[in-house]
Amino acid sequence: MAFEATLKENLPRHLAIIMDGNGRWAKARMLPRIMGHRKGVQTVRLIVEECSRIGIGYLTLFAFSSENWSRPKTEVRSLMSLLKKYIKMEVPRMMANNIRFNVIGNRNDLPEDVAAGLDDAMRVTAGNSGMTLTLALSYGSRQELLQATKFIAEEVRNGLLSPDDITEELFSSRLYTTSLPDPDLLVRTSGEMRISNFLLWQLAYTELYFTDVKWPDFNRDELYKALANYRQRERRFGLTSDQLRSATDN
Ligand code: FPP
Repeated sequence: MAFEATLKENLPRHLAIIMDGNGRWAKARMLPRIMGHRKGVQTVRLIVEECSRIGIGYLTLFAFSSENWSRPKTEVRSLMSLLKKYIKMEVPRMMANNIRFNVIGNRNDLPEDVAAGLDDAMRVTAGNSGMTLTLALSYGSRQELLQATKFIAEEVRNGLLSPDDITEELFSSRLYTTSLPDPDLLVRTSGEMRISNFLLWQLAYTELYFTDVKWPDFNRDELYKALANYRQRERRFGLTSDQLRSATDN
């Protein structure tokens, strides 16, 4: 199909998404916030399957930030319970779609039953070779950067590394995202135009796409719009257009 062929042209290898607007979606409908999160989970399901189907290599979803622990206890509890259910329900679908499941963030903050479910899902799907789905949970980028820095400092103190060994590659390898390429495209829903402590190091050269659509309303068409917009970008990585052209001509 011509549409499918165009869709698959110049796809981002790694798509990262800040799923925002569940609360506002619910409020606009006079529903409790949790209903927005519930509808948000349906969107997660749809977007995961669609990304895997069209051939995105890596999909990373910001599902719960380090700062989200400060939300009302009932909302945190509901989100954890949704997450637990999601993992339980989705593992068979991940297996059917050859999806490898991965988590980044501070595992130790999560309730033990949730963390155990995540570990299980990672173990069961570890041999899959299709899309890698990463959930960022209890994730904060500054915390990740500090943790990596402390780890490297310890390695230097213990004589395992010298300061000259600290390259960009080495630093990247001490982050939670060590096994992931940097994102090519970041999508944020719901109209906010900020990064909110997500993948600060990894997003250095990422294309950014913002949409007013709230996460529960994000769908296949909205995904295609974001991908079509990405396709038109010229990624220069600090070079000039002419340099890029002669590099691809050669
Ligand atoms: C932002 O909406 C969304 C979140 C804080 C969490 C995202 C969670 C889900 C989509 C559901 C759980 C995820 C999985 C993978 C099971 P918000 O509450 O900040 O919305 P608002 O800014 O409109 O208040």
